[in-house]
Amino acid sequence: MKTIELHIADPPTPYQVMIGAGLIDQAGSMIAPVCPHDRAMVVCDQAVADLHAARLKASLTGAGYDVSLISIESNEERKSLDTVSRLYHEFTGARLDRHSPVIAVGGGIVGDTAGFAASTFMRGLPFVNVPTTLLAMVDASVGGKTGVNFAHHEGARGSAHPAKNLIGSFYQPVLVIADVNALATLPDRHIRCGLAECIKHAIIGDGEMFAQLERSGGATFSAWDDEARIEFIARNVMVKANIVERDQRESRLRMVLNLGHTYAHAIETWPGVNLWHGEAVALGLIASVGAGLALGITSPDCAQRVEQVVAGVGLATRMGGLPSNDELIEAMRGDKKSHGNRIRLIVPREIGSVEIVDEVSASAIGSGWDRVRK
Ligand SMILES: NC(=O)c1ccc[n+]([C@@H]2O[C@H](COP(=O)([O-])OP(=O)(O)OC[C@H]3O[C@@H](n4cnc5c(N)ncnc54)[C@H](O)[C@@H]3O)[C@@H](O)[C@H]2O)c1
Ligand SMILES: [Zn+2]
Repeated sequence: MKTIELHIADPPTPYQVMIGAGLIDQAGSMIAPVCPHDRAMVVCDQAVADLHAARLKASLTGAGYDVSLISIESNEERKSLDTVSRLYHEFTGARLDRHSPVIAVGGGIVGDTAGFAASTFMRGLPFVNVPTTLLAMVDASVGGKTGVNFAHHEGARGSAHPAKNLIGSFYQPVLVIADVNALATLPDRHIRCGLAECIKHAIIGDGEMFAQLERSGGATFSAWDDEARIEFIARNVMVKANIVERDQRESRLRMVLNLGHTYAHAIETWPGVNLWHGEAVALGLIASVGAGLALGITSPDCAQRVEQVVAGVGLATRMGGLPSNDELIEAMRGDKKSHGNRIRLIVPREIGSVEIVDEVSASAIGSGWDRVRK
C-alpha cells in the first residue's frame, strides 16, 4: 500500500490518499479513526453497487457503523441538481448529522456529485472518496473539486446547453481510498481514458513516468501487477497533488492541469461527436503540441514522443469529420476556462514541463486542429 498525504491550505488539516489492493474490504477500519461516528451514508455508482459497494458496506458494518446505501446511475445527465436533491432527501431520511461521513464509491460522476452534496448538506459533512475508475483515482478524487452540471439556456449554440460542472465547490475529503482491485471490472476503454489523463500528468511534471509509458506501450497498466499499478497511480496523484497544494483554487498554476482540455472540450461537446472524455483529451494533447510547435514553444522531439505515447497506449491520434477550424475556435471561446474572447492554452515545452500561454493566435490554435485532422 502507498499513502500520500495532501496538505491543502484550506482546510489546514492534511488528509491521506491510500492506494492499495483489497482496501475496500478494510475500509471500515480505515474510515473509523478519521470519522468516529455511529452512522454512515454510502453513495455508490449503480454499476458497482453489487460488487464493490456491497463489500464496503459490509466492512463499515463490521467497524460498527449503521450504514445506509443509495445507488445512482452515473451519466452526465444524472450529474445534476436533481440528483443532489435526491441525495439530500436520503441524507435527511437516514437522520445524518454534521459528523456522519458520506462515502462515495464509483467514478468521477459519483464522486463529484456526492462530494458536492456532502459539502453543502448542513454546511458540510465529512466526505470520503472511494474512486473505482482509473480516471477518478488519478484525477477526479484528487484536489477537492466537487460539482454537477447545469443546463442553462442561451448556451454557446443557442438552445438549452448543459454546462459541465457549472455548480460546485472546493471541498476536500477527509480520506481517499483507491483500491486497484476495483479496476478488475472496469472495461478497457475506460482504462485507456484514464491513461489519457496519466499521459497528461507525465507531460506536465513526471518525465520518468513518461519514459515508463513509452517503454510499456500497449501493455501499459492492463499487463502490470498490483505493485506496479499502485506505484503508477501514486505517481499520478503526486503530480496533481503537488500542483493543487500550491494553488488550491486555480488562481494560476493549477491551470496547467488543463493541458489538452480546451481542445478536448470543444470536440467532446460537439453535436454528433461520440468521443469519451479521455479520448478527447488524447486528441487535445496532440493538438496542444501542434499549437506549441506553431508558437515555437514545443520541441519537435517532445511533439513526436507525445504522439507516440498516445498511439502506444491505444488511443487515437487523429480524427475524421472535424468541423472547420473557425467553428472549433468559436466553441473554444465558449469554454468555461476561456477568459473573455481570448483563448488560453497550456502548451508542452519538453516532457515534464509546460507553459501557460494567455493569448494564443487563431492561426496557432488552428495548427493544433490541423495536427489531429485526418
Ligand atoms: N473533480 C475533479 O477534479 C474532476 C477531474 C476530472 C474529471 N472529473 C469528472 O469525473 C467524471 C468522469 O469520471 P469517470 O471517467 O470516472 O466516469 P464515470 O463516473 O462516468 O465512470 C465511468 C463508467 O464506469 C462505470 N464504473 C465505475 N467504476 C467501475 C468499476 N470499478 N467497474 C465497472 N464499471 C465501473 C460507471 O458506471 C460509468 O459507466 C466527469 O463528470 C468529470 O467532470 C472531475
Ligand atoms: Zn480530464
